[in-house]
Amino acid sequence: MWYQTALTDLLRINYPIIQAPMAGGPSTPELVAAVSNSGGLGSLGAGYMSPAQMQTAIREIRSLTDRPFAVNVFVLEPVTATPAQVDASRRYLQPYREALGVAAPDNDPHFTPQLDEQMAIMLEERVPVVSFTFDVLSEKWVRQLKAAGVPVIGTATSVAEGAALAQAGVDAVVGQGAEAGAHRGSFAHLPEIEAVGTMALIPQLVDRLSVPVIAAGGIMDGRGLAAALALGAAGIQMGTAFLTCPESGAHPLHKAALRASIDTSTTVTRAFSGRSARGITNQFVLEMTPHQAELPPYPLQNRLTGDIRRAAAQQGRPEFMSLWAGQGSPLGTGKPAAELVADIVAQAANIVRSII
Ligand SMILES: Cc1cc2nc3c(=O)[nH]c(=O)nc-3n(C[C@H](O)[C@H](O)[C@H](O)COP(=O)(O)O)c2cc1C
Repeated sequence: MWYQTALTDLLRINYPIIQAPMAGGPSTPELVAAVSNSGGLGSLGAGYMSPAQMQTAIREIRSLTDRPFAVNVFVLEPVTATPAQVDASRRYLQPYREALGVAAPDNDPHFTPQLDEQMAIMLEERVPVVSFTFDVLSEKWVRQLKAAGVPVIGTATSVAEGAALAQAGVDAVVGQGAEAGAHRGSFAHLPEIEAVGTMALIPQLVDRLSVPVIAAGGIMDGRGLAAALALGAAGIQMGTAFLTCPESGAHPLHKAALRASIDTSTTVTRAFSGRSARGITNQFVLEMTPHQAELPPYPLQNRLTGDIRRAAAQQGRPEFMSLWAGQGSPLGTGKPAAELVADIVAQAANIVRSII
């Protein structure tokens, strides 16, 4: 069948459709399990979770599905903000704190990753598939996962990043195009690149790599799946399309903003987190983006804006929330995940039939 690819073989799934991991709440165990039960691959975004939280979420997913699913982590170096960065952040964020009645933040300028502890949980819980973003997972962990028979998926936003992932031994590469919602997976230690669109990136990755390439960024329906396969991808990863599902943990105001969005609603900003991410343009984005060069690096700025974003959500103030979205957001349907997967497969099947 047209939907059987190197990716469906690798991951032991029916359809080459991955629900993107979405750290910070949207990829609930219910969403992950619903996608896996429908024949795709659900992914838990565990990047911000403690090892204990990860373990609980993994066990919850297991209680809801016996199909394969993925768990996704962030590969980050320890980082320290300079006093000037912390000071600039505090100064620029003060008006939002006052507007929301939020106290001064904990200004710890250090970030220490918990990746080793998270990876230990993955192995202990025998997670079926592991994916990661922001850099290359160290050889030690890639080797151990592969020895345990766990497929490993990395994220690239350029051909050079894809080649580095292949060199490290990953089994598949997500090619994340410029249209994608939320954080870009670009490696921080490489020079900042002009974002490459999905249509241009995927065939170049396919030509360069011998592992399956998964297209991500701006794909919302069966047309996107058929197009990705035509470009040589072995499957797709979609975030924004699954954000408005009832099973998604995205805040109701975030879902409402996605429903109201148009093609030009989003921008890329570093103001919320210190790392480039695409979301719906709102007051915070407009006011803070001009100052982004002065702010602490990811994930320190993310921590410093955390209580502002939480208070904004609680108080119904979407103008101060991070409303992550890809450029395809107006094509979202709000349907349950299983229906969305079935629709995508049926629509792509019609396209494939009409082309051949
Ligand atoms: C709300 C949100 C959160 C995301 N969080 C993660 C994450 O934790 N890990 C990751 O690898 N990708 C994450 N992504 C990026 C997706 O993996 C994927 O590249 C992107 O959603 C594709 O573009 P689309 O949103 O147009 O489908 C996130 C995307 C969204 C929309």
